[in-house]
Amino acid sequence: MTVPPITLPASGRPDPAAAPTPGATADGILRRQRARESSARTYARSFPIVPARAKGMTIEGTDGRRYLDCLSGAGTLALGHNHPVVLEAIQRTVESGAPLHVLDLATPEKDDFTDALFATLPKAFADRARIHFCGPAGTDAVEAALKLMQTATGRRGVLAFTGAYHGMTAGALSATGSVAIRERVAGGAAEVTRLPYPYPYRCPFGVGGERGAELAATYTERLLDDPSGGVVPPAAMILEAVQGEGGAVPAPDGWLREMRRITGERRIPLIVDEVQTGVGRTGAFWAVEHSGIVPDAMVMSKAIGGSLPLAVIVYDQDYDGWLPGAHTGTFRGNTLAMATGAATLRYVAAEGLAERAAVVGARMSARLEGLRSELPVIGDVRGRGLMIGVEIVDPEGELDSCGAHPVAPEAAERVRSACLERGLIVELGGRFGSTVRLLPPLVITDEQAEAVLERLADAIAEVSGQRGRRS
Ligand SMILES: Cc1ncc(COP(=O)(O)O)c(C=O)c1O
Repeated sequence: MTVPPITLPASGRPDPAAAPTPGATADGILRRQRARESSARTYARSFPIVPARAKGMTIEGTDGRRYLDCLSGAGTLALGHNHPVVLEAIQRTVESGAPLHVLDLATPEKDDFTDALFATLPKAFADRARIHFCGPAGTDAVEAALKLMQTATGRRGVLAFTGAYHGMTAGALSATGSVAIRERVAGGAAEVTRLPYPYPYRCPFGVGGERGAELAATYTERLLDDPSGGVVPPAAMILEAVQGEGGAVPAPDGWLREMRRITGERRIPLIVDEVQTGVGRTGAFWAVEHSGIVPDAMVMSKAIGGSLPLAVIVYDQDYDGWLPGAHTGTFRGNTLAMATGAATLRYVAAEGLAERAAVVGARMSARLEGLRSELPVIGDVRGRGLMIGVEIVDPEGELDSCGAHPVAPEAAERVRSACLERGLIVELGGRFGSTVRLLPPLVITDEQAEAVLERLADAIAEVSGQRGRRS
């Protein structure tokens, strides 16, 4: 499939001087990908483009077409593509002769990354923190955090939430033959108790607003105290302060404080998964800062590697009771990622990019909110900082008790395609994939933010048949 020609506004007009990569054509590459890669491929299905070059927020395909990237590697690229700070860190490290792979041995780069990371953490957490370098994916760090707490508590239950996303690894450990390795994790495979996450627009209690969040907290507390509630004694509660894949759903700060109180009073370790929310994305360096809670463990990946793969858990020293090798792995010493990660963390802090994300994100969200009256397929606009969700609904459908129309996943897919035609990359998420998610880099300029809003509004108007009616 070829990408239809696109007409870009001034800010995204193709540069005629930029020659496309010689050799393979986009069509040929895409055809070979379809023939050779797994049917489980995902983003490649939604975005049939062949990136050849990228800088900042712009990706250029082999055919010379340019796109504003509002996916940013699923929230990985805090500084956008190929930021000079990242490229300089790569070049410096390569030229220094540092070994690129050394398992989990100490290196100056790892030492420096740990300094840079700890300097960003809330002080009360940093002062008692231990770090474990994981296999370089968020999901491996989530596994590590759960195993750590299972080992520390001797329990195997896990409390997790509706709408949560924590990764894709499924039972790798339970498939491992070595009993010695498996027994290092006291509890074994987790048994999950699913709890309601506050989601005002589609409130699990059908009431929405603050009341919905209050009920979610009350339900959690009462269930945990009910000896016949069916809850396997929990090794941990794991949550996202803003659900990302779940549709950019922010938890109210008060609810997060309630989760901290409820888990604290019952000596249940609280793990906050900051894989997507971390490094300024939500308008604070770490999303926990909004509510002021101090978790027992934080899971981090994506942006902490400054474009390269890196994942860690940071946790309270009191839980550091696992044995040597309890969560090992070959690729836990990615020197380049530590250098790019340290450079990125320092740049985000020095340039105040979390604060900028708060300001630009609020402005973009307000503009999108303002579009709801003229584009009724926009059911809900929500998020925090530069983690924004636009839920696409069927405005003809019946309203539920919270005032929400039914989801419209097909319309959302058409919005995504219409965005791509206009040179804008956005991904879907949320219930039934009906939420358009915006995850631009934190370095997005005001002009780029304007272009994103223009293209998105135009795409939504086209899909909802309102195009001619927009002023
Ligand atoms: C909150 C959260 N946790 C964990 C993960 C898994 O990370 P990875 O895809 O690197 O395994 C993701 C990925 O999107 C995520 O958003």
